[in-house]
Amino acid sequence: MKKILITGGAGFIGSNFIHYLFSLSDFNGTILNLDKLTYAGNPLNLSEIAERFPERYRFEKVDIADSEKVMQVFEQYQPDTVIHFAAETHVDRSIFGPKDFITTNINGTFNLLEAARSIWKDRDDVVFHHVSTDEVYGSLGDTGLFREDTAYDPRSPYSASKASSDHLVKAYFHTYGLPITLSNCSNNYGPYQFPEKLIPLMIMNMLEGKPLPVYGDGSNVRDWLFVRDHCVAIWEVAQRGRRGETYNIGGNSEKKNLDLVHILCELVAEEKQLAPDTYKKLITFVKDRPGHDQRYAIDCAKIKRELDWEPSVDFREGMKNTVRWYLQNTQWIDNIRTGEYKNWIEKNYEKR
Ligand code: NAD
Ligand code: TYD
Repeated sequence: MKKILITGGAGFIGSNFIHYLFSLSDFNGTILNLDKLTYAGNPLNLSEIAERFPERYRFEKVDIADSEKVMQVFEQYQPDTVIHFAAETHVDRSIFGPKDFITTNINGTFNLLEAARSIWKDRDDVVFHHVSTDEVYGSLGDTGLFREDTAYDPRSPYSASKASSDHLVKAYFHTYGLPITLSNCSNNYGPYQFPEKLIPLMIMNMLEGKPLPVYGDGSNVRDWLFVRDHCVAIWEVAQRGRRGETYNIGGNSEKKNLDLVHILCELVAEEKQLAPDTYKKLITFVKDRPGHDQRYAIDCAKIKRELDWEPSVDFREGMKNTVRWYLQNTQWIDNIRTGEYKNWIEKNYEKR
């Protein structure tokens, strides 16, 4: 694994993954980060990496829906490893406008698979790792866990598009023998998450004294995993996972949304040395998301058994670190809030 092509590396998990790889003492490969830089892509997340590793890290602004461009990149770079993060990822946006989800998540994945198949032919010393979500399995009631053999039952345009891409990836293994691995993970939290997702949105709203919008009655349950743990799992699966197999990844940290928001309110207040209830009064119950999945929870027995991976970061510790990161990185938040990061992208990538 020397020449790694990462798609969507300027997003939340992708940029954490690139930071993770460069932090490994035994990683001496190169990374090409291929990203369209949508509203969710922020190359500033990687400015430090770009400075420290100019010979080993490269960025290309490419839309994975552009099949010709994708093929060109594969032919020139000749990756031996693909880690595919690029996607439209926000459920609410997929409800308001599903089209980009179909184009990027389905057609984009198809283009990458075709390019990999074309340059790799029958090679078996290569791997295409597809990063997916537990949302493909649908919604759980009060009990039960998603296992790798749980039937797919996606219910939002986002999860349906991810499910479709998962099926394509598996089909390329069965039909063409493309060496693939797949992982389906629960909700991530940590640094660099775009503040439209629950946790960074709540933190930013607290800092601005804005309402904290909780959908429905706040009883929906998500399983939370610190993003670094997800990155470790992905790297393990890509290196050592059995080809053609899916691995579920989760945090063993189920929380009701309302409970999570209460914890966040307390942690932010603690960091700012304010009374614990300071932010709780901002909680506002708003109209529920249509088709809102009730509960996600993961059985991670397979990845533990086969690859000895399990989450290492305690939920409260991870949450504390995350809150601290957002409070300390006010410049990053300001760049997003003011759109300054977009101006930077325009200057650096669009007007060249
Ligand atoms: P994100 O929205 O933060 O980042 C997505 C990245 O993909 C951005 O940099 C964006 O510019 C890029 N991108 C979007 N469309 C593109 C296109 N057409 N061509 C090239 N690049 C494009 O997403 P994330 O939260 O980092 O998620 C990464 C992957 O992990 C996704 O595939 C997502 O489905 C999966 N996942 C996310 C979570 C989570 O909790 N965030 C959980 C499980 C799985
Ligand atoms: P989100 O971060 O969008 O992730 P996902 O929908 O992929 O799980 O939302 C996490 C949970 O929080 C989900 O149950 C919806 C809920 N939610 C709110 O209650 N308020 C909000 O403002 C947002 C963005 C999400």
